[in-house]
Amino acid sequence: MVEKKIMLTGFRPTGKLHLGHLHGNIVNMIKFQNNYDNYFFLVDWHALSTEYHNPGNIKNNLFECAIDLLALGIDPKITHLYRQSDIAEISELTLYLSMITPLSWLERCPTYKEQVKELKSKDISTLGFLSYPVLMAADILIINADIVPVGEDQLPHLELTREIARRFNSFYGDYFKEPKELLSKSTRVVGTDGRKMSKSYGNAIFLSDDFKTIKSKLRQMITDPSRIHISDPGHPEICNVFSFYKIYLNDGIGDIENRCKNGKIGCIKCKDEIAGIIFDSLKDFQEKRKALEADVGYVSNVLKDGKDHVKNVASSTIKIVREKLGIE
Ligand code: TRP
Repeated sequence: MVEKKIMLTGFRPTGKLHLGHLHGNIVNMIKFQNNYDNYFFLVDWHALSTEYHNPGNIKNNLFECAIDLLALGIDPKITHLYRQSDIAEISELTLYLSMITPLSWLERCPTYKEQVKELKSKDISTLGFLSYPVLMAADILIINADIVPVGEDQLPHLELTREIARRFNSFYGDYFKEPKELLSKSTRVVGTDGRKMSKSYGNAIFLSDDFKTIKSKLRQMITDPSRIHISDPGHPEICNVFSFYKIYLNDGIGDIENRCKNGKIGCIKCKDEIAGIIFDSLKDFQEKRKALEADVGYVSNVLKDGKDHVKNVASSTIKIVREKLGIE
């Protein structure tokens, strides 16, 4: 039997998932999980690198996130779902990798430079935040993964992982594989205020929102400002609500576009219709989620099984790394 390649990805446990999360690495992980040996983990240590001053919610958020992933279709029979902080070996590998990672590689990382500039409200001038990519490299290399589903923003980190693996191999002899990305077209989903959908902006529609909530969130959205009366011709290309139609309707998009352009549908009705479409697309997920919420023990067990399996893999990697470093 040919051994399956290893697919692995990590996800920041920011609590309940929203529509903006759906189109990133999760979709690819679910779509391709039959083809690979799969590892999917929730990166609570990475979350700590920016939330260290207020870590109280990380555990709870992680659990909510695990429920969402299971309800979306991550199948624990074929995907090891686990918590990063359950695998202490990752932190040991991070330490070894940090010995060989030149500071300049981290300082010039575009994500680092951007976040230091953008995240003004948080003090992230810490060692932990600078070495975020080293921790990510350890996440990937501890499993020696072949394929890593990521969004475009994570590409610099994957490149660094390959560079670190190469450097390790050149010092101590070949061991780590150089992982390849599986890129997701991160479709930008707008939030209810027109900015990128994000929990921290308070503009998100959550996968677990009921119809009434979705409807009232959509009702708040600004549409085409030049439309005052129903009969005014609309401009769907500048309308935030229309951007949801583009995601949810393939066929039939022309119909709503024409009704808007010809002043045949008012914005309120248009919002309510898409609210219904979004809610329908989530029904199946929400039923599964409810069942999982009522069976917390099951979710804990999935994470425990994940931990048990991954611990074995991680400790055999660490054993080999220690031998190579001459400290076993
Ligand atoms: N940094 C990734 C993000 O913010 C999450 C992540 C951590 C990850 N470790 C990983 C993704 C390993 C892929 C592989 O989205």
